[in-house]
Amino acid sequence: MSAVRSRTLPVARLGIIGGGQLARMLVPEAARLGCETVVLDPTPASPGGELATRQIEGTFDDAGRLRELVSGCTVTTYEIETIDTDALRVLEAEGHRIIPAPAVLAVIQDKLLQKERLAAAGIPVPEFRALDEPDPMAMAAFGLPLVQKARRGGYDGRGVAVFTDVVIEEQVLPGPSMVERYIDYRCELAVLVARGGDGETRSWPVVEMVFDDRANVLDLLLAPARIEPELAELARSLAIGAVEALEGVGVFGVELFLTRSGELLVNEIAPRTHNSGHWTIEGCHTSQFEQHVRAVMGMALGTTERRAPTVSANVLGDVEERQPATLVGEESVLSTPRSHLHWYGKHDVYELRKMGHVTLVGGEDGDAESDTDDLLGEVRALRDGLTFRQ
Ligand SMILES: Nc1ncnc2c1ncn2[C@@H]1O[C@H](COP(=O)(O)OP(=O)(O)O)[C@@H](O)[C@H]1O
Ligand SMILES: [Mg+2]
Repeated sequence: MSAVRSRTLPVARLGIIGGGQLARMLVPEAARLGCETVVLDPTPASPGGELATRQIEGTFDDAGRLRELVSGCTVTTYEIETIDTDALRVLEAEGHRIIPAPAVLAVIQDKLLQKERLAAAGIPVPEFRALDEPDPMAMAAFGLPLVQKARRGGYDGRGVAVFTDVVIEEQVLPGPSMVERYIDYRCELAVLVARGGDGETRSWPVVEMVFDDRANVLDLLLAPARIEPELAELARSLAIGAVEALEGVGVFGVELFLTRSGELLVNEIAPRTHNSGHWTIEGCHTSQFEQHVRAVMGMALGTTERRAPTVSANVLGDVEERQPATLVGEESVLSTPRSHLHWYGKHDVYELRKMGHVTLVGGEDGDAESDTDDLLGEVRALRDGLTFRQ
């Protein structure tokens, strides 16, 4: 890929498929590096589209709108996985630059293909098997406890079913799926990896993810993770190996399990910036969003060093009925030093919708382990003071 060497403005025009919060955080970073942005999203004035140079209204399987987007942009990337990859492949074959490549997205969209690719590259993953159609007998024969995953279309825990000691037929997911061993994990980790067009890779410090019990939505994030340094090193090298196995270019979020016996297993990969990387905006010298722009534009990658131990907490919708979003209680977040409020600009709130996040950055030369524990309590309290209830 040719690097950007001259810098007349705009340096380039970046297309972004998807106008959610990830696009909203990507757009200012692209602008800072001199790029215009065009967002494709079906919702008028989407969180990302509102900040972009322009928004095209259209769905992610609308071949005409996808063509309009990539035709007007130097490079097109995405912040969402549910895109028609056949349409993208046609546009790529015509010479349009789409990064990460549609072939990478196609593998990741299918959880079975993704796991097969990782396993073939020697990346440790939970033991798994294809399940072409719902089949309680075959599931029981695989052995319990197990996790059934729809091959396509799942996110934030939708499309994942856990069977602990019996396969209840009504709870079996319909359609083509896979089953895998239920992992009794000590914690869930994530490693963000950036890979440039020249194959150079950079990973950020390993983070620990804590999920909200009510749904599989990320609740809290600790950076660095409270694990031994050797495990952290191993997690980073496995994550890099996983992205190399896919030959992906851009920023990728790699989710892992640390088992109670100290084993690291890769769970899944997101071909985009990731919720587990929001802390890098204030916590690192190069955020995941800036790095993604650099990687897809062929610019040099930035350092992934952290500035200080950092934690963040997602602000989720806490109302039962969908309603216009009015945030209450943000004063303490705004008045606490080193705390940062991120508001995604979603006009409506509903239960568990990702509405924003709060990041709290620790002291620069503190002891990482005790700092993150203290910071965690503090960020949780700040976040718990926010509500959408009137
Ligand atoms: N093999 C497994 N063992 C135990 N828990 C799992 C397993 N696979 C997934 N989970 C749990 O379900 C969550 C969602 O599964 P994941 O495969 O990451 O799907 P999604 O696309 O919804 O993020 C994980 O974050 C983890 O908490
Ligand atoms: Mg996941």
